[in-house]
Amino acid sequence: MGPTTTNSRATAARTGSQLLARKSIDKLISDSERPEHRLKKTLGPWSLTALGIGAIIGSGIFVLTGTAAAGEHFEVPSILHAQVLDLIANWLRHASSAGALMHGRPPAGPAIAISFILVAVACSFAGLCYAELASMIPIAGSAYTYSYATLGEIFAWIIGWDLILEYAVSNVAVAVGFSGYLKAQLAAFGIILPDHWSSAVWASGKWTGAYFNLPAFLVVFVLTILLVRGVRESAETNNIMVAVKLTAIVIFLIVGGMLVRPANWHPFMPSGFAGVVTGGAIIFFTYIGFDSVSTAAEESKEPQKDIPFGIIASLIVCTILYVGVALVLLGMMKYTTFTEGAAAEAPVAYALKQLGASRVWQSVIIIGALTGMLSSLLVFQYGQTRIWFAMSRDGLLPRVFSVVHKKFKTPHWSTWIAGFAVGIPAGVVDIGDAADLSNIGTLFAFVLVSLGVIFLRRTQPERPRGFRVPLVPLFPLISVVLCGGLMTGLTVITWIRFFVWLAIGLCIYFLWSRRHSEFANTSR
Ligand code: ALA
Repeated sequence: MGPTTTNSRATAARTGSQLLARKSIDKLISDSERPEHRLKKTLGPWSLTALGIGAIIGSGIFVLTGTAAAGEHFEVPSILHAQVLDLIANWLRHASSAGALMHGRPPAGPAIAISFILVAVACSFAGLCYAELASMIPIAGSAYTYSYATLGEIFAWIIGWDLILEYAVSNVAVAVGFSGYLKAQLAAFGIILPDHWSSAVWASGKWTGAYFNLPAFLVVFVLTILLVRGVRESAETNNIMVAVKLTAIVIFLIVGGMLVRPANWHPFMPSGFAGVVTGGAIIFFTYIGFDSVSTAAEESKEPQKDIPFGIIASLIVCTILYVGVALVLLGMMKYTTFTEGAAAEAPVAYALKQLGASRVWQSVIIIGALTGMLSSLLVFQYGQTRIWFAMSRDGLLPRVFSVVHKKFKTPHWSTWIAGFAVGIPAGVVDIGDAADLSNIGTLFAFVLVSLGVIFLRRTQPERPRGFRVPLVPLFPLISVVLCGGLMTGLTVITWIRFFVWLAIGLCIYFLWSRRHSEFANTSR
């Protein structure tokens, strides 16, 4: 038995229970002494901001802005389509769920612009908590790794399992968004993809008659081949991608801005504040990825200053752009336009085309958006496989997830598994369903991380922290309330899917992972 193993076992024995067994920080470092985990302290405030923007802007802003503003209407009323917040409010008011909206989501209308601001505030608090946890462990990594070292194995498992929703399921949604815009751009070139092979098979609670969304599957497939061969985005490529995304959005703001008719902004808030919260729960998706700034805590030159700067600056930049896109898009066409079909799949392309914007500008915007989506897909697929890699190395997932390719030196099995696990659902589901599931999982992870900060300040006050959240426990509690509040804006069916997801995760943990974990024999 090597010293490292003794070290980790000692930690398990001290906690007395495998569920709360924690990895020793020394062990984490020795496990992670792989070149790709050893980053130099080179990141300054602006590189961190670019990192954040690169991860944040994917397909959400180009797709969900329209659908969140338009709302969703189901013919048959069902409690499954009601928002949890609405049910709670009706229950408190009338002691029954009667009166709750069972036909789907109310439209946020142009007030979705306000949702973008509210969600950015929630993300800022969560981001600061994330940064503290990240900075406690002197290696690059994810919330999974940090929680394994600080909170214990069961929390690490839940967060790792939850991160699949943040990375893999959000990529399902991004791939579906990519497909919608690719279809629109090919149509502009005179190539019409058949709907049966380029749309969701299951959307808004019913079968659509389509067979498979082939472009959504293929884009993930091609990126998987690249990732297996070791392609990944460097800091320079990320900067270029960020420039491309920002340019596409700024051009849209100018070109689309000239086509705005202010009458379309009325009514601004068709469903009142409830619509703003519900819309916020959907467009939360557009901010997913900002936590990647905090994962670079130990690679930054001055984490105490630069991490909060990177998080807040990338959120501010994205919020300004998002609010702009929302106001322009919903000023170009009435929010009710974006309920289904091409208007829902690719609202920006649809509005530009319908209002006769110049074809050149249309293509520049769409191709820019597509490029941005590709980079976001690449980064998230990469991130997913590395989390699986770490979980497998710890014995919580089968060894196959951490097998490294002899020639390419990449975890090729996990990369392929992630490719199919994302590509196949992307060929079947609608962006909304995937985004909702991803949102609830990510928000839950943020709640756990925020509570983790309060807990660790009490239990391990002496441990050095590269970054400290100000005003603990107030700030983490604000994060919990805001993230929890956004979760209640999601529908009952999303909550059920999330609980099923957690239940499957816990079954796997208790039936398999717990027995194979490196702590398995230490606590019995
Ligand atoms: N925030 C990313 C997007 O909007 C996931 O696509």
